[in-house]
Amino acid sequence: MKHWQLHEADGHALLTLDVIGSSVNILSREVLQELDEAITEVEHQSLTGLVIRSAKPGGFIVGADVHEFERIEDASAATELARAGQRVFDRLAALAFPTVAVIHGQCLGGGLELALACRYRVAREDEGTRLGLPEVRLGIHPGFGGTVRLPAVIGALPALELMLTGRSVSARQAHKLGLVHEVVPERYLLKAASACLGARRSRRNPPWSKRLPGWWPLRPVVYARALKRLKRRVNPDHYPAPYRILELRRRKASQEQEAASLGELLVGRTSRNLVHVFLLGERLKREGRSHLHDIARVHVIGAGVMGGDIAAWSAMQGFNVSLQDQDPQIIARAIKRAHEFFREKLKTPRAVQQAMDRLMPDAAGHGLRQADLVIEAIVEKADAKQALFRQVEQVAPSAAVLASNTSGIPLEVIASALDDPSRLIGLHFFNPVAKMQLLEVVRSAQSSDEALQRARAFTVAIDKLPLTVRSSPGFLVNRVLVPYLMEAMSMVEEGVPMWEVDRAATAFGMPIGPVELADTVGLDICLAVAEELSEPLGVSVPERLRTMVERGHLGKKSGHGFYRYNAKGRPKFRAHAKPTEVPITERLVLRVLNEAMACLREGVVPDADSIDAGMVYGAGFAPYLGGPMRYVESMGETGISHSLYRLSEEYGERFIPDAGWSEPRLIARGASR
Ligand code: NAI
Repeated sequence: MKHWQLHEADGHALLTLDVIGSSVNILSREVLQELDEAITEVEHQSLTGLVIRSAKPGGFIVGADVHEFERIEDASAATELARAGQRVFDRLAALAFPTVAVIHGQCLGGGLELALACRYRVAREDEGTRLGLPEVRLGIHPGFGGTVRLPAVIGALPALELMLTGRSVSARQAHKLGLVHEVVPERYLLKAASACLGARRSRRNPPWSKRLPGWWPLRPVVYARALKRLKRRVNPDHYPAPYRILELRRRKASQEQEAASLGELLVGRTSRNLVHVFLLGERLKREGRSHLHDIARVHVIGAGVMGGDIAAWSAMQGFNVSLQDQDPQIIARAIKRAHEFFREKLKTPRAVQQAMDRLMPDAAGHGLRQADLVIEAIVEKADAKQALFRQVEQVAPSAAVLASNTSGIPLEVIASALDDPSRLIGLHFFNPVAKMQLLEVVRSAQSSDEALQRARAFTVAIDKLPLTVRSSPGFLVNRVLVPYLMEAMSMVEEGVPMWEVDRAATAFGMPIGPVELADTVGLDICLAVAEELSEPLGVSVPERLRTMVERGHLGKKSGHGFYRYNAKGRPKFRAHAKPTEVPITERLVLRVLNEAMACLREGVVPDADSIDAGMVYGAGFAPYLGGPMRYVESMGETGISHSLYRLSEEYGERFIPDAGWSEPRLIARGASR
């Protein structure tokens, strides 16, 4: 066997997984076949038990091989793959002697299904241990028996909750749920496993209170309620997998039915696109990790909305951060906000304290002298930024990377103030920093590759995805978003009800409508960014936006923007509007696609995949469609440019198709396809 090692120790067998050529254990077809062979080898031996564990320091098993999904061509092949896995796990579950999975680090998807086929599960006690079934995030559901075994072990409702959300739990939470039998420190793991084998305790069933919701006649009521809740959150046409999970459990479906359902989902549009999006994220991480990150101390200048949050986030991720501002009161406010944030995110008072210790208020800017990375987040004014960087260059160590969080000033303009402009790059964070996964790493004409690589490595180290973009107006995400937001506002100006505009966008698959998004970002910020883009890109700014900002109607933060907001910050929607003749969705989406195409043609990012990654991870563009360019591929470029022509005749020049539409090679195949 290449991936598994089988040993005998004290009368029991010890089966260790160490997938060759990979830093983590993944359940590929080959790994499953070998597990089958190992079971054949042990099944007729007189053993006291079998212990399964991983030799990887990072964890147990992260799940099935996503690359294999992409190669599967039809539903029957996908079903057969699931059936093959189920047969191996059934054989494991049917062994005459007890079995125990020893879990540390990530135990996800197929990895947890393997562990569930063991009689006992022992987990390492620390926050790094995570157990879960995240399949729904890839548009599928568990297919190696998980939808059947998990409810049997922890009860119908907790199992549904884990499978529908795809969230993972820590070892302690898993113990509380009854998912693992023992939680112990690393050094006792094997002892605890032997103890399980020796104890020959009965299978642990969930208590009757947890089994109750799964029993007829309660089941239909329980599932009807769950369905109602799900419908409020998820559109079944876009994301069918959670509905399949509910249906399978409502019918108490067998493993065969689970496999058949999985087969259909796996080759469906949603799963194909979510896998594409997942692999794009992995690609960005890989690009970040290709360079060792050597940054320990970060100095942030400007402690306002962005700087304060960038500092807090970086400190939470383990960096030593000093935070400077010209106004000490603003630093104090940022530190207070950081404290609240740490208390919300970190589990123990000790962890909160440690994060606070890493975040230093630094009004005098002492931290600059030791910084490995300087992030500037002061006001969006070119001369202020130039003056600041002139000083920074004198004081910061010569090896420090210098980064600006500017959202629109060309980096070359800021870099012109430096003796060595190659040190300057952009690190464009999105607001709110804690929620947005993407970071645009901005390359100017002079930025050095080394500075960019170090910045990308830092980005991955703070658990964000680095997308390298060329310094140009609006970079990628804002440049594509602004025309979309302005189109929405134009429609409102024309008299289309704003809730209709928002409803059309969310029905298409956007996480939030454009009018509400503008209110959430802040209308003053929208106006500033739109004005920055109006000259270089010819974006026209609706008059209504200007007047609202003048009147102090800034959106959610002032309680009044396009919408009025209640005390909980929710917009007051008007319910029934008359249907409108205006092609809302088409106008919104085509502005996105046309601008995305312009970015591709101009080389703001290198390929179509980068556009998809940026727009899905940076702006939430309908993940089930896989991003704008994937959508273009599915619709056909010719049809899209024809629609643009048609709209340009009715609504004006802004819809004239970009020159890129007549260069089909632009939507070239990317790394993940
Ligand atoms: P802000 O106005 O909340 O904070 C700016 C802070 O910089 C203020 O606290 C001010 O006292 C301080 N400051 C100004 N000049 C300074 C100097 N010479 N030395 C030290 N401190 C100085 O602004 P915000 O919104 O945090 O934006 C900062 C930067 O981030 C801007 O370049 C903006 O374009 C960019 N950005 C903003 C986003 C947003 O949604 N607010 C999103 C992405 C980027």
